Amino acid sequence: MSFIDQVVQCIQEAEQKGTLVEREDVLTGYSGKKLYGTLQRLAKTVLTEDTCYVEVGVYQGLTLLSTALSNEKGSFIGIDNFAFFDPQGKNKGLVEERTAKLGLKNTSLINADYEDALERLEQHLGGKKVGIYFIDGPHDYRSQMMCLLLMKPYLADDAVILIDDSNYRHVRQANRDFLLTNPEFKLLFESYTPAHPMNLKGEDKQKALDGWWDGINIIVKDSKNALEPEFPNTVRNRSIYENEHLLHASQYPEQTLLVWEIIKKLRLYPLLNLLRKPSKMFSGEFKNANTFSESLEQSGKFNKSIKN
Ligand SMILES: C[S@@+](CC[C@H](N)C(=O)[O-])C[C@H]1O[C@@H](n2cnc3c(N)ncnc32)[C@H](O)[C@@H]1O
Repeated sequence: MSFIDQVVQCIQEAEQKGTLVEREDVLTGYSGKKLYGTLQRLAKTVLTEDTCYVEVGVYQGLTLLSTALSNEKGSFIGIDNFAFFDPQGKNKGLVEERTAKLGLKNTSLINADYEDALERLEQHLGGKKVGIYFIDGPHDYRSQMMCLLLMKPYLADDAVILIDDSNYRHVRQANRDFLLTNPEFKLLFESYTPAHPMNLKGEDKQKALDGWWDGINIIVKDSKNALEPEFPNTVRNRSIYENEHLLHASQYPEQTLLVWEIIKKLRLYPLLNLLRKPSKMFSGEFKNANTFSESLEQSGKFNKSIKN
């Protein structure tokens, strides 16, 4: 079976059956069962003696450790600077504690900013190449793009990249820009939810928790050029990136962000909206984590070259 067919099979099985291994008694975090079910199956199926798993964005270890549980002979590397979602500075200790509790001997942590870690990743690979790469760290456009670009030299000829939080339009834009400029990589699978799971309720939220969390793009290194080029949905309007430049070229960009916090706290948006009608592109439904993914096709979709 070809590498791509193996990856397809792992995704299909996870779509039908969810996870391979569950340790909800020990593991908590931000992910969906189809997502880490796919990571687990990939770890079991496609990792070889010469390849390893790398993840950016470990948090409290759910995806890293539950994936490591599915292949004790594999090598699983997690990168996190533990600088976010960690007000009490306990996440690194928690990951180490959980690793011991689960009896895992096949994981290692790089406690560093992703850019420093990826620039020097060679030192941590022990001569292996990266066969499975999971991106779940910072979500600004540049970081998403750098996570993809910096990993290129370390990828095996057969490699799969899973990009979490692909609900966000700027994440999809980074994926598209990468795919367009690196044609040896192809989009294999995509699935979205109408909003970030934090902003979903009831059945919709449960579907995201049992599914792909906050949208997924799965890319393969298609060395044999077996797949047609496909791209995730994006918008042509570049205002969000142009606005970033305007903001950061302004005299006091940090203060502008402070003003934004004050506007949120004092609930001044209706007043501002009276002064200037917000364009549809810039009016989110939620206070934070607006993904603008509600119009995307929600059910998982494979690259058209994949025959069922
Ligand atoms: C959403 S969490 C990851 C969730 C995780 N995969 C799980 O299983 O629950 C994102 C993580 O990315 C990390 N992160 C954010 N920016 C980073 C950076 N510049 N370098 C390294 N890690 C970063 C944060 O510290 C946080 O732990």
